[in-house]
Amino acid sequence: MSGKKQSVAHKRQEEIKDRIEELLFSGDGTNGNNTNNDEESLYDRLGGVFAIAAVMDHFSDNVLNNDIVGRKSKNKFLREWSTEKAPTRLAGLKFMRTLWVCDITGGPFTFCASSDRPTCPYGKGNLNLKNAHCALEISSAEFDEVAGELSRSLDHFKVPEKEKGEVLAAFAAHKAEVIV
Ligand code: HEM
Repeated sequence: MSGKKQSVAHKRQEEIKDRIEELLFSGDGTNGNNTNNDEESLYDRLGGVFAIAAVMDHFSDNVLNNDIVGRKSKNKFLREWSTEKAPTRLAGLKFMRTLWVCDITGGPFTFCASSDRPTCPYGKGNLNLKNAHCALEISSAEFDEVAGELSRSLDHFKVPEKEKGEVLAAFAAHKAEVIV
């Protein structure tokens, strides 16, 4: 990319980041389940679906570029997913991750896990993450690496410590469903 094109792209990225920061705390008009202003849902405090989707988008791209869990992973399932499946499944994964976070943070959306994985017969259930992850053979250390990427993406969008801690705790609470 030429220097000029690069600086236009950089400016655009900064504008998007500023807009997301505006969304944080502003709400987005799609109120979460908790309508009591004194105790806003985490979903509302994060800025709603658009802010959450921006974090998931950034996080998902960075996971692919992470040497331990992405395209160069030593885990052949993660490496194959990142190189061969990502081109057709990454956009959907970003959508599903966004939906999952919107659901567990008290937003007005319901995540429903895919049930098209006959090799991983762990049953259905709205928040069930076992079917989606069992064939990837994710280790505890790989999970923690992904949690680190999520933490960095929350920092990138300047999500406050309290909300950041709550998102990371919700993520960690499902570790047992994700790792082998
Ligand atoms: C609690 C932590 C995690 C959450 C909340 C989460 C969330 C999700 C969701 C919602 C889906 C889509 C599920 C579906 O289709 O039903 C998914 C799939 C996937 N997750 Fe996770 N995930 C977590 C941990 C991880 C980790 C540590 C990795 C390692 C890189 C990972 C990699 C993937 C991949 C590659 C898929 C796509 C599988 C496919 O092609 O369908 N996830 N995850």
